[in-house]
Amino acid sequence: MSTAISPTAYNYKVVRQFAIMTVVWGILGMGLGVFIASQLVWPELNFGLPWTTFGRLRPLHTNLVIFAFGGCALFATSYYVVQRTCQTRLISDSLAAFTFWGWQAVIVGAIVTLPLGYTTTKEYAELEWPLAILLAIVWVTYALVFFGTIVKRKTKHIYVGNWFYGAFILVTAMLHIVNHASLPVSFFKSYSAYAGATDAMIQWWYGHNAVGFFLTTGFLGMMYYFVPKQAERPIYSYRLSIVHFWALITLYIWAGPHHLHYTALPDWAQSLGMAMSIILLAPSWGGMINGMMTLSGAWHKLRTDPILRFLVVSLAFYGMSTFEGPMMAIKTVNSLSHYTDWTIGHVHAGALGWVAMISIGAIYHMIPKLFGRAQMHSTGLINTHFWLATIGTVLYIASMWVNGITQGLMWRAINDDGTLTYSFVEALQASHPGFIVRALGGAFFATGMLFMAYNVFRTVRASNPVEAKAAEQIAVVGAH
Ligand code: HEM
Ligand code: HEM
Repeated sequence: MSTAISPTAYNYKVVRQFAIMTVVWGILGMGLGVFIASQLVWPELNFGLPWTTFGRLRPLHTNLVIFAFGGCALFATSYYVVQRTCQTRLISDSLAAFTFWGWQAVIVGAIVTLPLGYTTTKEYAELEWPLAILLAIVWVTYALVFFGTIVKRKTKHIYVGNWFYGAFILVTAMLHIVNHASLPVSFFKSYSAYAGATDAMIQWWYGHNAVGFFLTTGFLGMMYYFVPKQAERPIYSYRLSIVHFWALITLYIWAGPHHLHYTALPDWAQSLGMAMSIILLAPSWGGMINGMMTLSGAWHKLRTDPILRFLVVSLAFYGMSTFEGPMMAIKTVNSLSHYTDWTIGHVHAGALGWVAMISIGAIYHMIPKLFGRAQMHSTGLINTHFWLATIGTVLYIASMWVNGITQGLMWRAINDDGTLTYSFVEALQASHPGFIVRALGGAFFATGMLFMAYNVFRTVRASNPVEAKAAEQIAVVGAH
C-alpha cells in the first residue's frame, strides 16, 4: 500500500482530545469510586457535610465513569474507527469540536450540580433538565457527524464496527429523550411526565438499555475494530458478526423489566423481561466468541503484548457478566440477589472487567498512532497496569459475591416463630470485611490508571508535532 501523503487528512484532533479526557475522567471517576467505597468502610469520610455524603457522591461516581470516562472513550474510538474504515475525514470539524466541548460542559455541570443535591432521582438519568437538554443537543450533533461521515465514505460497504456504533448512537438518543420527558417547575427542578408503575417501567427500559446500548453495543463496536487490529488477524466470522448485531439489538430492548421483579409492574411484563434476558445469553456469547476466536493463530502474541491482553481479558469478563446477568434475571435467583452487593459485583464485572478494560486497550492502541509514535513510551508499565486492573477487578467482584450472598441469606433467614433471625445491622457488620476488600481492589484498579496517565504523558511529550500531523495524512491511505 502506498504511503503517499493524501490531501484529505483525518480529523485526529478531536480523537486526541477525547482520548486524553478518557484518561483524565477515568482517574477522577474511579478515584471517586474508591472514595465512596471507603465511605462504606469508614463512614466518618462523609465529613458530616451534605455535599460529601455517599448519597450525593455515588451518582457523581456513576455519571463520571459511565458518561465521562466511558462516553469519551466511545467518542474517541468511534470518530477514529469511522474515519479509518470509511477512509474519509469527519464530515464537519466544527460540529465535531462542538461535541467535544459540549460533552465536557455536561460533565462539568454534573460535577457541580450532583453534590449540591440537584437531581431528577432517576438512576443514570439524574441530570436536571437544562443539562439534559444540552446533552440531547450534543448527542444529536454526534449523530450528524457520525452518520454524515458514513454517508460520505469512500469504501463500498459499512464495516460492522460502525453498525454497532451507529445503533448505540441512535438508541441512546431515543432512550435519553423519552425517559427525560418532564415538567420543569424551576431552573433546578422538574417532575417526570410519567407516573407510578409506568414511570418505573420507562426508567428501567432506559436504565437497562443504557447498559445494553451505552455500556455494551458501543463497546462491541470497539471490539470489532481493535481486537482484529491489535491481533493483526481478520475478524473470525463476518457472518456471525451480522447475526450477532441483529440478535443483540432485537433482544436487549425487551429485557428492562428484570430490574423490577416483584414490584407493582404487571406480572406478564416481569416474565417477558426474564425470558428475553435468558435468550440474550446467546447473542452475547456469540459476540464474545467471535472476538475471542479472532485470536486463532495469534494466541502466542498474548505473551508479549499487554495491550492485546487487555482486549482479550475484557472479552472474558464480558462473557462472565453476560452469563451472570441472565441468571440474575431469573425471578427466583433475583429474589436472593436483588438489593444486595451481588448486583454491585455484577455491575463492576461488566464495568471494570469489560467496559474499562476494552477502553484502556483501545486507548493504548490509538495513542501512539494519534501522536505520531511507533509505540507507547513503556510496555512494562502497560503490563503493570494490566495486572493491577485484573487483580483489582477480581478482588472487587469476588468480595461482592460473598457479601451479596451473605446479605441475601441473612435477610431471608426466619426463626421457627416467624421472626427474622438477623437484624439489618448484623448483615451490615457481616459485610464489613467485603467492603474493605472491595476498596482495596478499587484502589488497585485506580492506581493502574495513574500508571496509564504517566505512560500517555511520556508518549505524548515525546511525540513530534510534525510527525503527528504526517501520521494523520499517511493514515488515510494506510488505513482500514
Ligand atoms: C445478557 C446480558 C445481561 C443481563 C441479562 C443482565 C441482567 C441484569 C440483572 C438481572 C440485573 C439485576 C437487576 C436487579 O436485581 O435490580 C442487572 C443489573 C445491572 N447490570 Fe446487568 N446484565 C447483563 C449484562 C450486563 C453488562 C455487560 C453490564 C455492564 C457493562 C451490566 C450492568 C448492569 C448494571 C449497571 C446493573 C445495575 C442496575 C441498577 O440497579 O442500578 N449488565 N443486570
Ligand atoms: C476503581 C474503580 C471503582 C470503584 C472502587 C467503584 C466503586 C463503586 C461503589 C462503592 C459503588 C456504590 C455501591 C453501593 O451502592 O453499594 C459503585 C456503584 C456503581 N459503579 Fe463503580 N466503582 C469503580 C469503577 C466503576 C466503573 C469503571 C464503572 C462503569 C464503567 C462503574 C459503574 C458503577 C455503577 C453503574 C454503579 C451503580 C450500581 C448500581 O446501582 O447497582 N464503576 N461503584
